Amino acid sequence: STVSINDNVVEASLPTGESVAIHLYGATVTSWKANGQEQLFLSEKAHLDGSKPIRGGIPLVFPVFGPPPQNHVTSPLPQHGFARNSNWEYLGKSSAEAADNQGDQAVKLDFGLSHTMLSEEFRKAWPYEFGLVYSVTLTKTSLQTQLQVRNEGTQNFEFQVLMHTYLNIADISAIRVKNLESKTYIDKTREATSHTETSPALAITGETDRVYQNLDPSVPIIVSSAADDQPLFSITREALADVVVWNPWIEKAKGMADFGPDEAYKNMICVEAGSVSGWQTIEAGDSWEGGQTIKSRL
Ligand code: BG6
Repeated sequence: STVSINDNVVEASLPTGESVAIHLYGATVTSWKANGQEQLFLSEKAHLDGSKPIRGGIPLVFPVFGPPPQNHVTSPLPQHGFARNSNWEYLGKSSAEAADNQGDQAVKLDFGLSHTMLSEEFRKAWPYEFGLVYSVTLTKTSLQTQLQVRNEGTQNFEFQVLMHTYLNIADISAIRVKNLESKTYIDKTREATSHTETSPALAITGETDRVYQNLDPSVPIIVSSAADDQPLFSITREALADVVVWNPWIEKAKGMADFGPDEAYKNMICVEAGSVSGWQTIEAGDSWEGGQTIKSRL
């Protein structure tokens, strides 16, 4: 594999042609090419200069999901926390041992963020001594993103985490999301009410913002083609029991200054693996690990 670093973007590619690009701003994966195609959606109007979280790819949400709750330690933080709008460091590449790597090459890139690297504003807003190591592993058939959270301080802290993956699709009306049936979800478009999913193959036909809870991380969420039921993506998780399904649809897409073109809501579906319905607590000196593996056109 080859790795290059230019203008705060780390890019790696395999001899077989697959590639991945990660911006140090947010350690945001902005491109994943496999099967000769871009697999992630990136808005044409995304800010790539560190002035705003990147709209597209895989922004990392930490240590709070959505608008922080009131009267909580995370209350002073912006929506989705600080990880996606902080400058990470590239820690280097290591040889990856992907579980499905039958003699094929793989490359693993590590990124780090710790409390000393945060802006003064964020450090004050969330005064814990933490260390994050985010590992992005590219194989011929998959992209894996894994996060290790370390508590390097003397007091416990709690956090939420989410890998906000924007999948690139040709047409939102031609896909279905599977393996959510019978799961409980919160519908954020309807005053956060709780529902049970009845569809074995969810069609997206309007604004969708749902937090599916308590899933078995080893059961893949499948994005399939409605026409022939072929899987386009499968997402398995580790230690991430919630999955957010989000599409802004027409009006919300128009309302986001960094989302473009307006019609691009048809070309994306966010399937976001996370731990967001409660809080993970890490005791002083302990660590936590979780992640996702995305496979494309299996
Ligand atoms: C999703 C949330 O994860 O992210 C949505 O469930 C939110 O409510 C979306 O609108 C995008 O958030 P942001 O901060 O990137 O505009």
